[in-house]
Amino acid sequence: MEITVDGEPVPGVEGQTVAGVLLAAGRKSWRTTRSGAPRGVFCGIGACFDCLLTVNGVPDVRACRRRAADGDEIRTQSRADA
Ligand code: FES
Repeated sequence: MEITVDGEPVPGVEGQTVAGVLLAAGRKSWRTTRSGAPRGVFCGIGACFDCLLTVNGVPDVRACRRRAADGDEIRTQSRADA
């Protein structure tokens, strides 16, 4: 299974969440706040919304709640995108 993150291929394992794929690839953050502070997984259970990213053109998807699917196109987000 493989997804792309800002156009870069990232391998994953069937059943992983998007956050799981990103963390396994060594990425700890994929969003920035208005101040530019990095954000990634905080709660890991869908409660804090820190892990938001864009999946296949849909913004504000929680990476910890979305199961990754082969071919998913992930875009990182910044507050300026909202
Ligand atoms: S890490 Fe908190 S909602 Fe995803």
